[in-house]
Amino acid sequence: MQLIDGKKIAQTIKEEIAETVKSRIEKGEKPPHLAAILVGHDGGSETYVAHKVKACEQVGFKSTLIRFEDNVNEEVLLKKVEGLNKDNDIDGFIVQLPLPKTISEQRIIEAILPEKDVDGFHPVNVGKMSIGLPAFISATPAGIMELLKRYSIEISGKNVVIIGRSNIVGRPLSILLSQKGVDATVTVCHSRTKNLDKISANADILVAAIGIPEFVTADMVKEGAVVIDVGTSRVKSDKTKSGWKLKGDVKFNEVAPKCSFITPVPGGVGPMTIVSLLQNTLIAAKNNS
Ligand code: GUN
Repeated sequence: MQLIDGKKIAQTIKEEIAETVKSRIEKGEKPPHLAAILVGHDGGSETYVAHKVKACEQVGFKSTLIRFEDNVNEEVLLKKVEGLNKDNDIDGFIVQLPLPKTISEQRIIEAILPEKDVDGFHPVNVGKMSIGLPAFISATPAGIMELLKRYSIEISGKNVVIIGRSNIVGRPLSILLSQKGVDATVTVCHSRTKNLDKISANADILVAAIGIPEFVTADMVKEGAVVIDVGTSRVKSDKTKSGWKLKGDVKFNEVAPKCSFITPVPGGVGPMTIVSLLQNTLIAAKNNS
């Protein structure tokens, strides 16, 4: 069994991005500039956004964090999005999800200019990605594709089973993996799937993106499979200073011995998602110069 070290790969890619930024600045270009809108004080969102801001600093990007309280009016948020669309100094921006129930996430996402939508959530980017055109691809699927590539994991002709059909992970990943040239045979499982354990046990590559801690057990995994764990559930822990720890969707201790490759949580897919955002922002900056 080989551990897929997302933290190490992410660090390598960050160094590559930092080199590119340095040479762009030497040529007189400005540093790429990412803005993030954060509404409210959800613990998970606060952590993710803080990581994104820190990653920008590490690679020499400029970042701007815009905060709103969770009682913010949808129109106010839309005005801010429109302002960022027009601000030529901002190369790309994200609105951290989830948003409060009073706000339509879809309306906000659709207000973002596709050229600045470095999360790849806008329907124009999703549509372009679906038919294989250049587009911003959302961070988690892009990060998983990058991990598979950097570990030279064969995908063509393989049976991939994805557990979870979310718009930001399962569905876009299924499209990327089944594209011509990638050529996996993809099955997407969800809450209504019958005999899920039998289907997953047939996977050469199993992606767990369901958001239920330790959902995937050893009996659901084929001997020699590649297992990608997208889960990042925060569970209470008296062993950490923060009082919580991250748990994946895979029961790691019993599944790992059966795998050819497996991603740990933390340190697997997570660090790659931030790097994908940086890669998208660099592309946006190049397109904007
Ligand atoms: N919430 C969870 N993941 C993401 C992400 O990749 N982007 C944004 N904007 N919000 C998220």
